[in-house]
Amino acid sequence: MIVGVPIETYPNEKRVALVPALVPTLAKMGLEVLAEQGAGEKAGFPDNLYKEQGARIVPNRSELFSSADALVQVRGLGTNPNAGHTDLELFRSGQLILGQFNPLGAPKAALALAGKGVTSFALELLPRISRAQSMDVLSSMATIAGYKAALMAAGNLKKMFPLMITAAGTITPSKVFVIGAGVAGLQAIATSRRLGASVQAYDVRPAVKEQVQSLGAKFVELELETKGSETSGGYAKAMDEEFYRKQRELMSRVVAESDAVISTAAVPGKKAPILVTEDMVKSMRPGSVIIDLAAEGGGNCELTRAGETVEINGVTIIGPINLPSTIPYHASQMYARNLTSFLQNMIKDGKLNLNMQDEIIRETLLTHEGEVVNSQVRELLGLPLLSPKIDEKGNGS
Ligand code: NAI
Repeated sequence: MIVGVPIETYPNEKRVALVPALVPTLAKMGLEVLAEQGAGEKAGFPDNLYKEQGARIVPNRSELFSSADALVQVRGLGTNPNAGHTDLELFRSGQLILGQFNPLGAPKAALALAGKGVTSFALELLPRISRAQSMDVLSSMATIAGYKAALMAAGNLKKMFPLMITAAGTITPSKVFVIGAGVAGLQAIATSRRLGASVQAYDVRPAVKEQVQSLGAKFVELELETKGSETSGGYAKAMDEEFYRKQRELMSRVVAESDAVISTAAVPGKKAPILVTEDMVKSMRPGSVIIDLAAEGGGNCELTRAGETVEINGVTIIGPINLPSTIPYHASQMYARNLTSFLQNMIKDGKLNLNMQDEIIRETLLTHEGEVVNSQVRELLGLPLLSPKIDEKGNGS
């Protein structure tokens, strides 16, 4: 089987789905790697590194798509709405496509993929079980985003993060408040702590309290009824507007006294909850900063504009998009490692083994043989569930 690595075409995307160091791992699985000329260049992996590891380089995209049995992407259709459509023309029926497709946010992309007859796997749909941890692209990319968010907070604040006792006086540590202590939030806490800030954090899932404390941060206790706020998959559930109103009210004191707020609160498939209002922003000291990692999902701060920096009363609100792409070398390395683990679970003797009894394969399979097969995505599209016969098909293709 030939695996193709195309150039990522989303604007300013610098990552690549497969790094040279993993080419030999794929070769051991019986897979040959073809890379589009320049595929890894922006991430710091020039063509010669791919060649040294046994990959072949092809000069253009159409040759890559026509030669490869499988394509690996960082941003597939759905996460690359404009340029992604150009690739649709190049897909061949029966081709295997692995990547991120934003299936719950942009389900129509799945219809387009099904229309081309490709077998696509959306890595965002990976079940969050121990066996799938090494394949979890959402976690690895969130780790990078959380790290970078802390650096952005430190870099944009008019203060320094750490305590400094100097001949020119004592500098007290900056106060950082992290809202949402999932994968990105925990990394933002850890990085802010390493830089010496005094950190507080809050999450609706009470289970994270210990994790927050183990990183040396204080968990902010709010008098909110959070029973039932967590899904069986470990995600937060959407709460009602009254809950969020009360949460904002209870958090307002903490926001006002913070130098930096890093917000990461998200509910999968839903718009991010507004947790910081304009009034709360105005209560912060001039020179303070908000890094809203939920910007792409609508933002946790009322004033956030995705991809922009806004200043109100001296408070800077940054709504970064695609942060993992700003650290493309390690982001690509981690993404490629996740993808390789995913392939290792699914490829037997160089061939695709679509074992639908395996929940990792079953839940990530987005389209197959002309159909959108994922039940969550079918529901979003208003399509009836497939009959179990088709749903549990165990044949390879
Ligand atoms: P996410 O990106 O969907 O959300 C980020 C965080 O925001 C979550 O911790 C969520 O509880 C929090 N949040 C939502 N609404 C909030 C609100 N109103 N106020 C404050 N916080 C709010 O989630 P992420 O980071 O992708 O994963 C969440 C959890 O999933 C992890 O902490 C972990 O427990 C679990 N997980 C399990 C894995 C595994 O076992 N393989 C792998 C990765 C995550």
